[in-house]
Amino acid sequence: MRIDVATIFPEYLDPLRHALLGKAIEQGRLNVGVHDLRSWATGAHKTVDDSPAGGGPGMVMKPEVWGPALDDIAAGNTEGSELASALPHLNRPRHDELEGIGGHSYEPTGEDSSLPLLLVPTPTGKPFTQDDARQWSHEEHIVFACGRYEGIDQRVIDDAHKRYRVREVSIGDYVLIGGEVAVLVIAEAVVRLIPGVLGNKRSHEEDSFSDGLLEGPSYTKPRVWRELEIPEVLTSGNHGLVDRWRREQSLKRTFERRPELLAGAHLDKADIKYLEGLGWTSA
Ligand code: ADE
Repeated sequence: MRIDVATIFPEYLDPLRHALLGKAIEQGRLNVGVHDLRSWATGAHKTVDDSPAGGGPGMVMKPEVWGPALDDIAAGNTEGSELASALPHLNRPRHDELEGIGGHSYEPTGEDSSLPLLLVPTPTGKPFTQDDARQWSHEEHIVFACGRYEGIDQRVIDDAHKRYRVREVSIGDYVLIGGEVAVLVIAEAVVRLIPGVLGNKRSHEEDSFSDGLLEGPSYTKPRVWRELEIPEVLTSGNHGLVDRWRREQSLKRTFERRPELLAGAHLDKADIKYLEGLGWTSA
C-alpha cells in the first residue's frame, strides 16, 4: 500500500514512522509520502487560505493550492517526501503471515476502482468505522488531504472526483483543529489490517467491532496480583468454557456500554438468553 498525506504541518505526521507503521514501512508493505502543502502555494507569502465567501469567521483553504497538490500527488509527481521508518526492525524474524482476510465489495456503483482513494478528514464527514478500515486495508493507494481552519474550498473536493474516489470522513462527534490527528487514527486502523503487518490473524479477528460486539476484558500472569485473581475459568484449561465465558463477557460489556450495537450483531439462542438474563430486551 502507498499512503500520501498533504498537510501544512508535515511534522505532525511524524508518528507514522514509528511502531506498527514504521514496521510496515520496513517490511516494504507500506510506502508513505508526506507533502508540505505550502510547496504548492504561490506568491511571496505562500498563503494557503483566504476569508470565507459570504463572510463569517475563520479561513478557508484555497482551491488554487489544493488543486495542483492533489493533481501532482495522484500523478506521482512528488519528490523527496518519502518517510523512512524510525525502527531498526528489519532483522527480526517473522512467522506470522496473514491470509484469508475478506475481499472488498465496497465501491459504490459507477466509480473507477483503479483510481486512488482520497480521504478528507472533516467533522462533517461520514463516521469512520472498523468496516471502512477493513475495506481500505486492501487499497493500493490512499491519499489524505488535511484541512485546517474552516476547511477546504468545496470545489476542491468536487473536482477531485475526476482523479480519485473521494470520501469525506469523521473520526467522531467532536471538532479537532485539523485533519492531521484523524489521519494518524485512520492510517493506524487501516495499516494494522494489511496482511502480515499485525502479529497474528486471530488478534484482529477478535477485535472489538469485528463481530459487531465489544471485546471483553483480558488478563495475563500472575494469577494473583494485589489480591486480585484472574477469573478462574481462564486457568481451567477448558477451551469450550473459556470461549463461552469470553462470548458472555463480550455480550455483557456491549450491553452495558454500547447497547445499540446489539441490534446489528449476530446473536444465537444462547446469546439472547444470556442477554435477557442481564435485562436486555430485543426491540
Ligand atoms: N477535522 C476536525 N475535526 C475532525 C473530526 N472529528 N474527524 C475528522 N477530521 C476532523
